[in-house]
Amino acid sequence: MRSQPKEAARRKVTTLRLQEMKEQGERIAALTAYDWLMARLLDESGIDLILVGDSAAMVFCGHDTTISMTMPQMLYHASVVARAAKRALVVGDLPFMSYQLSEEEALKNAGAFMKEALVEAVKLEGGESVCPTVRRIVDAGIPVMGHLGLTPQSIHKFGTYKTRGVERGEAEQLLRDAKALQDAGAFAVVLEKIPAELAREVTKSLRIPTVGIGAGPDCDGQILVSHDLLGLFTRFRPRFVRRYAELGKAMQDAFRQYTADVKGATFPNAAESYWQGEEEAGESSGAT
Ligand code: KIV
Repeated sequence: MRSQPKEAARRKVTTLRLQEMKEQGERIAALTAYDWLMARLLDESGIDLILVGDSAAMVFCGHDTTISMTMPQMLYHASVVARAAKRALVVGDLPFMSYQLSEEEALKNAGAFMKEALVEAVKLEGGESVCPTVRRIVDAGIPVMGHLGLTPQSIHKFGTYKTRGVERGEAEQLLRDAKALQDAGAFAVVLEKIPAELAREVTKSLRIPTVGIGAGPDCDGQILVSHDLLGLFTRFRPRFVRRYAELGKAMQDAFRQYTADVKGATFPNAAESYWQGEEEAGESSGAT
């Protein structure tokens, strides 16, 4: 029986629920978070999946690529996000070199995401070559999300951020990779920066959901980096980023106004100060 929209909006999202969503033609909405506050706002907005992405290296730490992110850093970000999310499925991104050395190392790191950070699934990049690792992690009871197309951890191998899977040979390999990930037990696959026609073909050929980023309108779901969508990260803007707000500009306006108010001695005013002999209002001390 199809769930009513209101009931579905309250229901905890699990990997099983994502599968149901694919089968029922309900789109999956996913975004990234690296901190408690962002995760709380996303979760309360009804997002289905929150990815604690290694894009934190670029967006949170200011690096040029995602390559430098470490397991301890990812575990810290994932643990604060997992604490905030009540409904969304939280997925931790296995960072570069945390799953390539051996299946044992990969399993240990995926397990740390579950046990220490309390996420509900992990994501890793790659196709057929990572499938034995995917199977090993899934066999241990840890759900795995794949990631194909433009896989940012391999950026130095590609040498470019151009669209992947344009040539037929690469497109056919991507189809094989997607099928292999499904057969290895992955519960979903991210498709990044590939032609819309190829993403449609992959989506049609898989039982498990595809989640696109720069992969056209026919994936089972979409994911973006929250800081891109909010206009907070503006160093570059790929075509697939739709800006829903200009928060970077709004924040800078607020910071400039605050600086001007302090320098002009108009902040704080009398109402924003405490005076001897007055009654305590019993206000919350806020964040301090
Ligand atoms: O690290 C990340 O944020 C990602 C998404 C862009 C899919 O992998």
